[in-house]
Amino acid sequence: MLRDKVHVNIENWENYLDNVLGHNWRVSKLSNYIAELCGFDPEMADLIEEAAYVHDIGKIQLNPSVLYKPSALDDTEMEEIKRHVVLGIHAVSNMYGDDSLHMQVVKYHHERWDGNGYPYGLKGTDIPIVARIVAVADQYDAIRSRRVYKRGFAHMETMSLIYDTAGTFLDPVIVRICMANEFALKNRFEHLYKRWSMRRILINQQYYQNNKPVKVLQ
Ligand SMILES: [Fe+2]
Repeated sequence: MLRDKVHVNIENWENYLDNVLGHNWRVSKLSNYIAELCGFDPEMADLIEEAAYVHDIGKIQLNPSVLYKPSALDDTEMEEIKRHVVLGIHAVSNMYGDDSLHMQVVKYHHERWDGNGYPYGLKGTDIPIVARIVAVADQYDAIRSRRVYKRGFAHMETMSLIYDTAGTFLDPVIVRICMANEFALKNRFEHLYKRWSMRRILINQQYYQNNKPVKVLQ
C-alpha cells in the first residue's frame, strides 16, 4: 500500500518535472528570445523571462489526475484546467504584487488575439505585449514537447500549426517575426531541450537524495 502511494507520487513527480518545471523553464527562455526579436532590450527581455517562468504557477494547485490525464479532457476537466489562471493571480499577487510584469503574464497569457480567450476575453493589442509574447513561446514549447497524451511535433509542423493560429489565437505580428527567425528559434529550442535534460538529472538527483515530498502533489 505504502509502495503504491510512493509509486504514485514518483509518477506524479516525473510528470511534474517534465510538464511543469521543464516547460516553464523553456518557455521563460524562449520568451526572452522572442522579446529580443520583438525589439525589447536585453534587460527588459530578462524581466520578461523571469515573469514567464511563473506563467502557469496556478497549476500547482490543480488536481494532478486532471493535469496529467493521458486522454482528452471533458468540459468539466477543461474548466478545472482553466482555473489555473485565477489561482495564479492570487499566488502572484502575494509574491510579486498586482502591478508586476509577472501579474500581466499570469493574468493574460490565455487571452486570444481574436477575443475568444480566457478569463477576460481581451482582444488584440488590449492584451499586454508580454502576455502575447509568452503565449507564442508557450504554444511553441507545448506543441514541440512530448506529453502523456501526445507526441512531440517537429519544428516545421509546429511552425505550420502556429502560423494557422496567427490572427485568431496568437498575435500575427509576433508570429511573423518568429517565422522570419524560425531557424534560430528552432536551434534555440533544441539547445534548451538538451540543457533541460542535464538540469533534469540534477533536479532529480536532489529530489531522490533528499526524498523530499512534493507538497503540491500530495
Ligand atoms: Fe497557462
